[in-house]
Amino acid sequence: MIKKERMKVLNHKELAPSIFELTLQGELVSEMNQPGQFVQVKTTEGTEPLLRRPISISSYNSSEKQFTMIYRAEGKGTTLLSQRKEAEAVDILGPLGNGFPVHEAKQGETALLVGGGIGVPPLYQLSQMLVAKGVTVIHVLGFQTKSAIFYEKEFSELGDTYIATVDGSYGTKGFVTTVIDNLEQEFATIFSCGPTPMLRALEAGYREKKLFLSLEERMGCGIGACFACVCHTGDDPTGFSYKKVCSDGPVFRAGEVVL
Ligand code: FES
Repeated sequence: MIKKERMKVLNHKELAPSIFELTLQGELVSEMNQPGQFVQVKTTEGTEPLLRRPISISSYNSSEKQFTMIYRAEGKGTTLLSQRKEAEAVDILGPLGNGFPVHEAKQGETALLVGGGIGVPPLYQLSQMLVAKGVTVIHVLGFQTKSAIFYEKEFSELGDTYIATVDGSYGTKGFVTTVIDNLEQEFATIFSCGPTPMLRALEAGYREKKLFLSLEERMGCGIGACFACVCHTGDDPTGFSYKKVCSDGPVFRAGEVVL
């Protein structure tokens, strides 16, 4: 069920330049049961900006009633959000959207988790849930440069973790696909989240795998009102049939929507 709640800030810190990790506590966490969902955040106590911002859930702990999100402070709203202090309250609406289908990876199988930039966070909860059910996980995470990297240690504790940077300042120089093309391990399923060019490259190169894509970077308002997130469906020759990333997704099976 979707709830609205003023949640308490437990922890708020900058992980990398303009990348913030915010942990909140409240009853709403009991509604979270799927990795890859998101919440709508009222970024300010004032009236401006009016619209909530969609931010993905990176992990949650039901017994502690806590969840964590990682976001980039870039516009007015998220910059205001980044100034919230411990013990203050943040107005949250959620959980929203359809997340990653954990059941698609079976115990004993290997899953590849591929993230790009601010698309990395939702993979963290997913990875923990896959490991808990006996799936071996491999992470391939792409960033622009060394200083932008976050959560390498957290992912490494769950499974093999490879980093790619566009400028080559850390890990493999290039893109996530540069790493995947040279992987020796076999894997049955790919779960991914990141910018559209990355998702397109995965769809083009690994369609024979079970491939799931989170298009969360395509979201605008996050509540079905702006149509910024509309994608045409892959099986419709007329071009009139579409899905909304915010309410039908953000996770889709490869081919379900045209990227
Ligand atoms: Fe605005 Fe989906 S993000 S309609």
